[in-house]
Amino acid sequence: MEKTKIHFPEKGISKEEILINAIKKKEKDIDWGKGRSFCLIYYPGEEKSKLIKEVFDVYYYDNALNPTAAPGIAAIESEATKMCIELFHGDENVRGNISSGGTESILLAVKTSRDYAKKVHPEIKNPHVVVPSSVHPAFFKAFHCFGLDFTVVKVKNDLRADALAMKNAIHQNTILIVASAPSYPHGVMDPIKEIGQIAQEKKLLFHVDACIGGFMLPFLKNAGYDIPDFDFSVEGVTSLSADLHKYGYSPKGASVILYKNGDLRKSQFSVYTGWNGGVYGSPTLLGTRAGSSIAGAWAALNSIGMEGYTRMAKATMETTNKIKKTIVEIEGIELMGKPEMTILAFTSKELDVFVIADELNKKGWHFERQQLPPSIHLTINFIHCNVAEEFIEDLKSSVENAKKFSLEKITNKLQTGLVKGLSKLLPEGTIAKYQSTRDEKLEASTRNKAAMYGMMGALQGTSDLNEMVLDFLDKTYS
Ligand SMILES: Cc1ncc(COP(=O)(O)O)c(C=O)c1O
Repeated sequence: MEKTKIHFPEKGISKEEILINAIKKKEKDIDWGKGRSFCLIYYPGEEKSKLIKEVFDVYYYDNALNPTAAPGIAAIESEATKMCIELFHGDENVRGNISSGGTESILLAVKTSRDYAKKVHPEIKNPHVVVPSSVHPAFFKAFHCFGLDFTVVKVKNDLRADALAMKNAIHQNTILIVASAPSYPHGVMDPIKEIGQIAQEKKLLFHVDACIGGFMLPFLKNAGYDIPDFDFSVEGVTSLSADLHKYGYSPKGASVILYKNGDLRKSQFSVYTGWNGGVYGSPTLLGTRAGSSIAGAWAALNSIGMEGYTRMAKATMETTNKIKKTIVEIEGIELMGKPEMTILAFTSKELDVFVIADELNKKGWHFERQQLPPSIHLTINFIHCNVAEEFIEDLKSSVENAKKFSLEKITNKLQTGLVKGLSKLLPEGTIAKYQSTRDEKLEASTRNKAAMYGMMGALQGTSDLNEMVLDFLDKTYS
């Protein structure tokens, strides 16, 4: 870890020095440019990204807060939103905005539901939301921020939302029900039609979180894949979020949030009329909004178009199918659920899947590790079309290596102590002495990382794990 003391610069630093510093720092980040990362980044290729960046740069200092000062960027937002409304089968009543990302879109959807319910159901004093257990944590952030009560309903064995159990969780204070298209952890589609029917029957708002799927599913459908309806074409859907900065291939900082009608969207806006600074109204959660991100999203939609997105979706799905087939064929690992699009997870009953993860990391691949049960998550996008074969070979050999390895069980008490130690960033070697392996030839770092994730799994549901994550965040941003 860098120990350099940072000071506010006395004088401006030279361009060269700043650039060298930035590039040097970036060397530590995941190497997504060569397709080695199955998470976080979605890249449309050099040609498109260059054009998108040019448009991003046109607006790179601009503020989308005040549409009267910047009608140009307001028009760009409006055009991008209209394109999305058409893509998601909204009628002429559907309204929306571009937000800064999936989390903001979800925060907005939840705030809107709360404020709309306050208006139409003033008798509800303690509003409540029903979500499936696979829903993105942004919803819990939203419930916390907006003070909403919620029920988490366990997904079914196929990892999809359990519509009936969700129905049973609805009570007199319920205002909103949520489903994902698809869920992030396993890439499976919740039964949107069924939940839409329940929402209609119970007269509830129904949000579809298509943050990750919104800019992949319609194009897969266009390419001939059998994709269930998930958008405003489904009766009962009242709002939908879809991230432009994921499979929309726009630069970070762009998502779209859409509502069935303008009346509902009004509850999204914030207005304060008593300020000395003037009457203040803002459409989304942020005040100042980056014009560049909105312009970048608009540029992505315009430059890639239906034909480009469909071509990229088809190629990405073909790559996904190759990887899926390999996972199904390899003995010792198994695909989780039946993912409909280009994200998936695999687990193992007999092997430590985090040892496989460590082996793949050593070969330069990056992805998310999941829990409950331990699994490896892959978000496959266009950039992976050229590296799939290499990944498949590395996956096969990583599983073989993992078969040679087995982590001995350590007691829960010891695990707690170790994880606490890790939160204080003990050198990896410190924990190595607490564990033993059957194959001493494996590198210590492999044992340590797998052990750490194993311990985190064992600590599930304890306050120690929560505390450890808080400590980690505190240290990371210190
Ligand atoms: C289904 C789903 N919803 C919401 C989000 C949150 O999006 P963001 O990270 O842009 O805030 C994600 C992110 O992966 C997601 O997959």
